[in-house]
Amino acid sequence: MTTPHPSNRNTAVVGLQWGDEGKGKIVDLLTAEHDVIVRYNGGANAGHTVVVGDERYALHLIPSGILYGDKTCVIGNGVVVDPEKLVEEVESLRDRGVEVGDNLKVSDRAHVVMPYHKEHDAALERRLAAAADGDTSIGTTKRGIGPAYADKVHRATAIRMGELLDEDRLRQKLQIICSIRSAELAALGVDAPPLDPDALAAEYARLGHILSNHITDTVYDLHGYVAEGRSLLFEGANACLLDIDHGTFPYVTSSNCSTLGIPAGTGLPGRNVQDVVGIMKAYGTRVGAGPFPSEDLGEIGERIRDRGNEYGTTTGRPRRCGWLDLVAVRYSAMICGATSIACMLLDVLSGFDELKLCTAYTLPDGKTTDRFIPDAECLAKVRPCWDTMPGWTEELDDVTAPGSLPPNAQAYLDRIESYLGIPISIVSVGPKRSQTVLA
Ligand code: IMP
Repeated sequence: MTTPHPSNRNTAVVGLQWGDEGKGKIVDLLTAEHDVIVRYNGGANAGHTVVVGDERYALHLIPSGILYGDKTCVIGNGVVVDPEKLVEEVESLRDRGVEVGDNLKVSDRAHVVMPYHKEHDAALERRLAAAADGDTSIGTTKRGIGPAYADKVHRATAIRMGELLDEDRLRQKLQIICSIRSAELAALGVDAPPLDPDALAAEYARLGHILSNHITDTVYDLHGYVAEGRSLLFEGANACLLDIDHGTFPYVTSSNCSTLGIPAGTGLPGRNVQDVVGIMKAYGTRVGAGPFPSEDLGEIGERIRDRGNEYGTTTGRPRRCGWLDLVAVRYSAMICGATSIACMLLDVLSGFDELKLCTAYTLPDGKTTDRFIPDAECLAKVRPCWDTMPGWTEELDDVTAPGSLPPNAQAYLDRIESYLGIPISIVSVGPKRSQTVLA
């Protein structure tokens, strides 16, 4: 049994932009101080790479806490699990000598991503991209996330992880599901033989069998950990501006990826989260479609992409890049209840003569606002109002103490802190654990 965390405080880590803020590194740092690491939303659309010594691990579903050996990792009921991917992750970790046993719990109520969800996701995107009045696709990761959550809401056509443990029940359910899905896929232009319920039931029962020791009622487990005084770290996947309710709808993902998803996605009341670390990059990026007011389509955006190696972990797509949008970050910090900020990738901004921060928007009628506008169509029509700050030339890779930052880098951080009204507790200047400046 793990020793209780001395202060028994629970922490959430959440991205405040459109994802890829570098949450993996902060989760990894904070994992050391917590006993139980919990995923509450999203699925294999998320992804982070953790570097431990010389080893690089790319994980999509399992919290990186698994690499520690003495942490319990929980995939909560709010996650949509692709069992094929999960088994792949478990097996590849075991192949590399990482123990995956009782330390991994998967909610029996987490919904399953089936192969037809992925096909549906891709087919719908193709159809939307070919719309007569222009491309209206979302730019999804094609991991089946939207269709799997849609089935959760449809109810009768959904499959939960616990159901993989009963092949007969699964086969029976899949009869009707496959006939409906086959017709839908055909209507979306997918030229494939009808789905075979028996084959799918056999394959998914096989995957369920492999995962059976991990599938459990995580709600009771989590309440038990709280009662025992163990400290929990909630790892948000995707990011606040992709939240289905509060993000830039419809260019969002299909779950509550803000901290508001924690209670529903774990079964723990909201009062169980005391500290919320909001993660933001020192600039802005976005993958997929959707408005991004501070995007730079020219040389600056390209330079940020090159210096920040801004290509997706999950899909390899080049990310759209631009300056930091403080209006957006302040909105996300408000929604998520951020109590501190981690500013990532500050090193990427070295060498710019000047830096810009978006501090308000000009609306189509000429008025300005410092409120974020989550409706995608309206947000697409705003123009950013900039604060311009002088840049710095020094590379920051070796900076480890706040006092060693160049004065202009410190001034940049001070401006962000005063705009947000939230302390910046962590500044990251490189991928390694050692390249971290703690306030
Ligand atoms: P989906 O989650 O695959 O349905 O994709 C919906 C939108 O969210 C797309 O624009 C994706 O690029 C974006 N998205 C989903 N997950 C992530 C993530 O972890 N990082 C960045 N963007 C993401």
